[in-house]
Amino acid sequence: MKKFLLFCYAVATLQGFSGCSPSQPKEDYGWLKNAIDTSVQQLEETVADVGDSVLLPRSIWTGYDMDFLCSQLQREPVTFKDSLRMKPVKDALGSRRYCSSIYDWTSGFFPGNLWYAYQLTGIEDLKKDAVKFTNYLYPLKDYKGTHDIGFMVNCSYGNAHRLSPADTIRQILVQTADNLCGRFDSNIGCIRSWDFGKWNFPVIIDNMMNLDLLFYVNHLTNDSKYKEVALRHAETTMKNHFRNDHSSYHVVSYNSDGSVEMKCTHQGKNDDSSWARGQAWGVYGYTSCYRESKDAAFLQQAQNIAALIMERVKTDDAIPLWDYDAPNTPETPRDASAASITASALIELSTLVEDGQVYFDYAEKLLKSLSSDAYLAKVGTNQGFILMHSTGSLPNGSEIDTPINYADYYYLEALVRYMQVKGIDYKSL
Ligand code: GLY
Repeated sequence: MKKFLLFCYAVATLQGFSGCSPSQPKEDYGWLKNAIDTSVQQLEETVADVGDSVLLPRSIWTGYDMDFLCSQLQREPVTFKDSLRMKPVKDALGSRRYCSSIYDWTSGFFPGNLWYAYQLTGIEDLKKDAVKFTNYLYPLKDYKGTHDIGFMVNCSYGNAHRLSPADTIRQILVQTADNLCGRFDSNIGCIRSWDFGKWNFPVIIDNMMNLDLLFYVNHLTNDSKYKEVALRHAETTMKNHFRNDHSSYHVVSYNSDGSVEMKCTHQGKNDDSSWARGQAWGVYGYTSCYRESKDAAFLQQAQNIAALIMERVKTDDAIPLWDYDAPNTPETPRDASAASITASALIELSTLVEDGQVYFDYAEKLLKSLSSDAYLAKVGTNQGFILMHSTGSLPNGSEIDTPINYADYYYLEALVRYMQVKGIDYKSL
């Protein structure tokens, strides 16, 4: 794949990026142009709508029907009814849901969406908006209460620093990385994910995503401690989170001596099921770990998870059901966010191995599905979000079959990566 890309790059440069071979027709990127233009218009309308209120768009309020949840979970109502965190909010149904505060785990995604839209198009107003929404998150540099500070700060300030570096931003990133490392327990070999719940030391597969902040700060500072913490976390997770078929548990909790307290789920169908977004977080996280370490064990892990995803997702358009073990019916909600995370991860993975075309082709299929009318919103609809049909936490009655800001984030990131690999830019579309 790498040789192939170099070859394509050389030929495309000679031909003014018109394709790999003079005899091939020019590739039709109409879907891509429409995807970017739609995304930009949705974001611009949302920014105008929010105005100067300090609000960060998250999703659309959904309710649930208890019988439907029971049929999806195949559990008796009585066993989980009382644990439902979200109550249906009849008055709010269908309206835009904002982050409850900047401390909501998804607060970094909307600023990140603006940064990616700016990167995709070069539109200066998007950069101004990105700066404005990013700066709302400034107090997060002092927050230590969750592993999600990785998502929150890396997707906002991390992209800000990548596209418009400044010392003040560097300081925020370093301080947040220190706070994230403060959640690392060297006995256990992991970063603690949550401070709530029944567990002694919960670690969720999602935590693999927060390692990218540590890798980035390792490059900024040349201090290896950040990378050491990240890689130790990845090694421990590789040992305990995965089943023989390379699917992962959602939650693994540890005793203080490092032994496993329990393995279970919080957002999946049941403890032994394969929650779709969890598999996506895993392939993305181990791809990052291989990029940074060049450790073949991480590459093998990423490839094993990729193979699992490509084998287990049976839908025609490759957008997974919210849990691979959910009932295979037309009513079962899908999770577009899992698809966009997977697309972004597989594009990167395709560039790290010789035979990566299979990953790139699968990612392209995902992106084309997500960019179709079935998932990409029409301008002016969908409360300004880009994609439809994600599922946040079905067992908790929250964000079921709805747009969610992180689906948009990884979709835009995947489009950036797609165009980089293809050697094309927005103006050439
Ligand atoms: N990190 C929480 C989720 O994926 O829903």
